[in-house]
Parts: sequence; C-alpha cells; structure tokens
Amino acid sequence: MNANPTIAIAGATGAVGEEILQCLINLDVPVGDLKLLASARSAGKEIVFKGKPYIIEELTEHSFAGVDIAFFSAGGSLSEKFAPIAAAAGAIVIDNSSAFRMDDQVPLVVPEINPQALKNIPKGIVANPNCTTIISLMALFPLHEKYGLKSIIASSYQAVSGSGAEGIAELEQQTKAVANGTALEDLEKNVYLHPIACNVIPHVDVFKEGGYTKEELKMLHESRKILSLPELKVTCTCVRVPVTRSHSVSITATFANKPTVSEAQGLFARYPGIQLCDDIENLVYPMPYQTTLKQDCLVGRIREDLVLDNSLALWVVGDQVLKGAALNAVQIAQKLISG
Ligand code: A2P
Repeated sequence: MNANPTIAIAGATGAVGEEILQCLINLDVPVGDLKLLASARSAGKEIVFKGKPYIIEELTEHSFAGVDIAFFSAGGSLSEKFAPIAAAAGAIVIDNSSAFRMDDQVPLVVPEINPQALKNIPKGIVANPNCTTIISLMALFPLHEKYGLKSIIASSYQAVSGSGAEGIAELEQQTKAVANGTALEDLEKNVYLHPIACNVIPHVDVFKEGGYTKEELKMLHESRKILSLPELKVTCTCVRVPVTRSHSVSITATFANKPTVSEAQGLFARYPGIQLCDDIENLVYPMPYQTTLKQDCLVGRIREDLVLDNSLALWVVGDQVLKGAALNAVQIAQKLISG
C-alpha cells in the first residue's frame, strides 16, 4: 500500500462520509490525494479538507482510476454496483454497507478484535461491520478472550444517526413540532413509519425469518464471523430511540468459564477503545450523550446475571457514526497503510 494513498469517499456528503473526513484528520492518516464522490445533486460543491478545497464529483464507473483506498458510505445498492468496479480499478474498498459482510471472500473487521483478517483481501473489498455489532463486540471481546463467549442476549437502543442525515433531520423536526403542540399522530413522517420523537420503535431494518429483523440477524451472523465462533448463540431485539447519534446496548453474555465483576472491570479498564464507566455508588454509568463525538465505547452496569450461570449483564454505549461506522472504517485504513 502506498504510504501516501489516494483516498476516495463515495457518499462524502453523508453523515458517515463527513465523519470519515474528520477521522482522517483526527487519526492523522496520510492522504496523498482525495476524491469526494456523491450524487449528481452535490457534484460541483466544495468541501475543505485540511485547509484545501476539493470539488465533489458525481460517483461514476470512472471515479476510481489511481485510487488506493475507497470508502463506501452511500447505501447498499451503490456499494453492490460500484465497490467491485473500484476494486477492479486497483483500490481496496472499505465498505460501510451490509452488501458484502457475509461474503466468505470479504473480511469483516473490527481492528481491535480481528486485524489478522486484513492479511487476505481476495476481492479487494473489506467490510465494516454493523454498528450495533461493533459496539457490542467491543465490550464482549475482552471478556471472550478470558472466559470464552458462548451466548449473547441483547437489546439495543439505537440512535437515529443509523438512518443517516435524514434520520437525524426527522428527529429534530418532529421534536420541534411536538414542542409546538403537534400531536404524535399528526407528525410528518418521511424516514420512520411511526413517530420517533417521544417514542421508541421496536423495529430496525426489515423483518426476516422467525420474526427477527435483518438488523437483529446481523448481530448473530456478523458476531459469529468476526469472532470466528460459528456456534455462538445470539438473540437480540433492536429498538430505535429518540437519541441523535450514540447507540446503547443492554447485554447478558454467557461464558464457558465463570467471570467475576471485578475481573471484568479490570479488563475493560486497560483495553484499547473501551473505557470503564461503572461506579454505581456515585451513580456513574454510560449514557449516549457522553459518547457522542468520542472515539471510545463506555461500559458499565456490570453485574452477575441473576438468571443464567457463568453470565454477566452489562451496558455498553458508543458513537454510532464513529466507532459504529466512520472511525472503525478509518482504523481499518490505518492498518492497511501501516501494513
Ligand atoms: P448526496 O448528498 O449528493 O445525496 P446519508 O446516509 O447521511 O443520508 O448519506 C448518503 C450519502 O450517499 C450522501 O453522500 C449522498 O450524496 C450519497 N448518495 C445518495 N445517492 C447517491 C447516488 N445515486 N450516487 C452517489 N452518491 C449518492
């Protein structure tokens, strides 16, 4: 990999694309040249990166000549169409969509957990995992290394940033409308089927087999792949909540060996990307506003589960746009550049 790579961002104007640009700066990633790609609507507009103006171009088949790393964050169907074209042009694609995550030939990577998967990228595509899965596994991996993870029971509290800039706008507009006296039944809805202001929606992504949503099944299949645990048991309920951009997950995890709360706290206190935030005597526990715009995930409310043996209950919170998407993608790029 070129030490000063040419980097393209497909979806540069979106919620995740904008944050990828910021992460490139914050992580001091060397950028030789930059290509900012979006729809025809944005073509010709300008984005300033490190003091230099760049003109946004329309994403086309010809966008990737000379590109070393191409981030994709413009939705699954555009990834499906253009990621193979970018890879054929010689770029390594880091794809934020779910289009390639379960492809055996595509590594699915959280750099703190399975960086070794980046040694073999046969299709020139690396997949960035689902946001809820990344944040959950950041908390579970240190425990898995010590105790051997057997099963996960989880409920997520997912921010509207998971629906992109439009999801954030819908929450803002509905919140203002409710403050001005509009009844929930009368709110204007473009992104969600139900009000998201003053409500929670137990439905993220489309319904699939067995009454589970696609988002819930991503937690199952992606966790198995990232951890190389094909027998891992996962059940999950994913819920959209009126929070702008950090996801929270309530987890009961069962292990082969008995964990203790104090040992678990010690593991989190020294693991990269995770901060322990667990001091109930002083009413300290993680909340989504605390991780917004922060790189690390926070873990707290760690306790022995009262129902299942060898199990801990915990609460993990992380910025969906950062560790759940842009930051993880840029950390993958860092690994690729540093070899
Ligand atoms: P644009 O701003 O020009 O519409 P989000 O997930 O925050 O909604 O962002 C989606 C991203 O995907 C935006 O950068 C958006 O660009 C981009 N996008 C949407 N449709 C297309 C398209 N047909 N071609 C290229 N980029 C697209």
